[in-house]
Amino acid sequence: MKQPGKKPGLKNLRGRDFLSVEDFSPKEIKAVFALAADMKARPKSYRKSLEGKFVALIFEKPSLRTRTTFTVGVAQLGGGSITLTPADINLGKRESVYDVAKNLERWVDGIMIRTFGHDICTSMAEHASIPVINGLTDHEHPCQALADFFTIIECKGNLAKLKVAYVGDGNNVAHSLVLTAARLGARMVLATPATFKPDAGVMERSCAAAEETGAAIAWTSDPAEAVRDADVVYTDTWASMGQEQEAEARRKIFAPYQVNRELFSMADPGALFMHCLPAHRNEEVTDEIIDSSNSVVFQEAENRLHVQKAVMQALMRG
Ligand code: CP
Ligand code: NVA
Repeated sequence: MKQPGKKPGLKNLRGRDFLSVEDFSPKEIKAVFALAADMKARPKSYRKSLEGKFVALIFEKPSLRTRTTFTVGVAQLGGGSITLTPADINLGKRESVYDVAKNLERWVDGIMIRTFGHDICTSMAEHASIPVINGLTDHEHPCQALADFFTIIECKGNLAKLKVAYVGDGNNVAHSLVLTAARLGARMVLATPATFKPDAGVMERSCAAAEETGAAIAWTSDPAEAVRDADVVYTDTWASMGQEQEAEARRKIFAPYQVNRELFSMADPGALFMHCLPAHRNEEVTDEIIDSSNSVVFQEAENRLHVQKAVMQALMRG
């Protein structure tokens, strides 16, 4: 079989950044999925693929999944990592983003950054000569969306004829999901309160990409309209990291968007329930739904590992 680095679509990713789903073409996303599937099936074949490569993991927000999967993932590929938290580098205060980028590029082969403003992530990428991966900003969570669509394809075979519903806040996860749906030709309906719509630019660019790929992207304020006959029902927290002070007010506004038995029963009986986690049980989703046999939340979490290994290998080795 072809060596991973020779697979079409992967070659061009070497040395590039992954700050947004929009950084990868549909062909490149599919090539990353093919590599991730092979890495999941034959992990031992990739034990040395990033040998001698190091990645710096910058976290300005908490994390379970992203921190663990990047740390374990690069180690499984033969490389190493160092985690840098605000206690270590205090990005932008102790030292500028520029200076951090210029230091790190001398020592490591890639940077994963989880931060607040998306501009911090783009600034890191602009100044660092090594690949930068977005591990979540206020605007996007691209690694999550790739792992999620990889999971949907794993469970359902392909995306053709599927209806993906997203219910809740028009946030970073919603942005990356709709951009991915548009690139992969999926049908996606997002239901959010009118005052918490996804970013207008993200929706415009998703609709434009959909015209090229045959995807169908729509927004509604009605959760029932989104969930009716859906094959996937996705939700996320109503108050993201950094919005903790709004949590109480948001609980009231988002109450009609809770994924519970009544709402979920409108979906196709074989519908998947998905959530990026961490979940706020009995807020955006009831225990009954997240613990049901329709729920694939831990499969999604596992697939973060495989998909991010493929992303790291594509960018850092090529
Ligand atoms: N879904 C996700 O990114 O989880 P963490 O915040 O725990 O990394
Ligand atoms: N929207 C959530 C996702 C957490 C993985 C947040 O930004 O906190």
